[in-house]
Amino acid sequence: MKILNLVFHPNLENSRNNKTWKTQLDESGKIAMSRDLYKEYPDFNIDVEKEQEILSQYDRIILQFPFYWYSMPPLMKKWLDDVLTYNFAYGPEGTKLKGKDLQLVVSVGGRQVFYSGFDIFTTVPDLLRPLQLTANLTQMNYLQPEYMFNADAAEEKTIEAFGKQLVAKIDDPKRSDARQYLYDNMNRELNETYEELGLA
Ligand SMILES: Cc1cc2nc3c(=O)[nH]c(=O)nc-3n(C[C@H](O)[C@H](O)[C@H](O)COP(=O)(O)O)c2cc1C
Repeated sequence: MKILNLVFHPNLENSRNNKTWKTQLDESGKIAMSRDLYKEYPDFNIDVEKEQEILSQYDRIILQFPFYWYSMPPLMKKWLDDVLTYNFAYGPEGTKLKGKDLQLVVSVGGRQVFYSGFDIFTTVPDLLRPLQLTANLTQMNYLQPEYMFNADAAEEKTIEAFGKQLVAKIDDPKRSDARQYLYDNMNRELNETYEELGLA
């Protein structure tokens, strides 16, 4: 499985979370190509042909970004607007992304309690729905998104532990079927609990 990591961070050098995770993924040897898009396009002038050509070469595409205003950094939005064109990503001949995996990796500054889903709060998966719908429209497999709360206050060891888990699962082919993957994990956890309780 050929994996592409596209990192959208306005200042990756000064980032703690995304920089660490990108480095960990790069060093794992599991990522065929890893890019810092803000570095490549400081003027926001995206080379659409180049981006489409690169996308077509990979099976699993990671979009890695910090959560900004309950959404994505502006270059990432522009990249989606420019690159996912009619008859490339959607439309009668737009099948170039069909069957590829879309993996979101997101650092979330807010604490989990502010994303509880209760009353005035919503949840991160709900806020990521536009990207899930984008995956649906382009016939990509939307993988279970990976995100870490409290990113600004997190200690280095917490950031690294998240990155380590990310590395472990990033090339798992079973993730391509997100619903089955959820069921499998749920059943595994249930079975472990039954065993611990001596009920198995
Ligand atoms: C312009 C801006 C908007 C932000 N908006 C949000 C937000 O809506 N929700 C949130 O939880 N964190 C928000 N944050 C915090 C970032 O998510 C956090 O700083 C980032 O994930 C940390 O990752 P890094 O160490 O890679 O920079 C925002 C930060 C900035 C600079």
